[in-house]
Amino acid sequence: MSKKPLILGIESSCDETAASLITENEEGVPIILSNIISSQVDVHKEFGGVVPELAARSHIEKIDWIVKKAINESGRGIEEIDAVASTAGPGLIVCLSVGLSFGKAFASTINKPFIAVNHLEGHALSPKLNSKINYPYLLLLISGGHSQYLSVQNLGKYKRLGTTIDDALGEAFDKTAKLLGIEFPGGSQIEIFAKKGDPNKYELPKPIFNKGGCNLSFAGLKTAILKISKTINTEQEKFNLAASFQKTIEDILYKKTKIAFNEFEKLNNPQEKKFVVAGGVAANKKIRSMLIDLCIENNYESIFPAIELCGDNAAMIAMVGLEKFKLKEFSDLDHPAKPRWPLDEKAAFLKGAGVEL
Ligand code: KG4
Ligand code: ZN
Repeated sequence: MSKKPLILGIESSCDETAASLITENEEGVPIILSNIISSQVDVHKEFGGVVPELAARSHIEKIDWIVKKAINESGRGIEEIDAVASTAGPGLIVCLSVGLSFGKAFASTINKPFIAVNHLEGHALSPKLNSKINYPYLLLLISGGHSQYLSVQNLGKYKRLGTTIDDALGEAFDKTAKLLGIEFPGGSQIEIFAKKGDPNKYELPKPIFNKGGCNLSFAGLKTAILKISKTINTEQEKFNLAASFQKTIEDILYKKTKIAFNEFEKLNNPQEKKFVVAGGVAANKKIRSMLIDLCIENNYESIFPAIELCGDNAAMIAMVGLEKFKLKEFSDLDHPAKPRWPLDEKAAFLKGAGVEL
């Protein structure tokens, strides 16, 4: 029996400090030995959003014991670790620097390779922690900072098919929650409110619904919700608005995903049609079930990370580390923190006024 790689993953790109140890079994199926996540919700609650300086300070306070706890809970010794993988971007630079510097220092202390990981690639590979997936596959990445359709050609090889031209979907959920008076971070509460409301009560805009391929836009939706939120008074009206928002998002994703299926097939002519949904918003149960039905209608296999691996975590960073380790794709110790680090570096920048679709 050969020794399987043991990878330490570290994540600190935003407001979660996380560390994880993973390995794999004889068949090459990943095994999560520990997955420690410390959220900073309480630190940022009173400000209604993430405050970068406070987030960085909190990472600094916690990183040592989070990594120590991840190693202890894994049941393995430091000397058994084969490589250290840290998120190097995209994210808040003051936050990224904490996990990145810690990872580099740790790797050089134990004299093992260091691997810099793109946080978005972590999300992209997160379903590999519980499903076997071959390349290529179509990915819908929906998080607090990104909303994209990508054709995942291979490790590190992405072709962007569509992106949001303004807000990210998670941001739209969070802003809607704020307007409904839900405490930060409220995105995940929307579907709970929505269950008690009438989804047909408000007609909300669906920006670029009939143009722009599988590009997305949510800013107009936010403006409409802002206007309506000023006119509502009762709890029931709030539930109705949440339900109408949730339904509008489902309609948009239904239509845009069908377009993305076509574009993915044109690009790859794939033998197996696989659709992976990842990122924090992939935890939304109604979006999940709508996309599962859409996949059944279109002969796609739908693949989601486990709910607890949709949000930011270090197991997904270790997962990228594991794949890179096997290919001996190591990073130099002067690898920079990259606040902006698109998966498809060649894709055009599609944000702001004047964007032509
Ligand atoms: O991937 P993630 O943890 O962090 C980023 O990399 O951005 O995503 C966080 C986002 C937040 O905007 C949060 O509101 C959203 O995911 N989110 C949800 C749900 N759970 C988390 N949005 C809709 N429904 C949910 N159940
Ligand atoms: Zn994330």
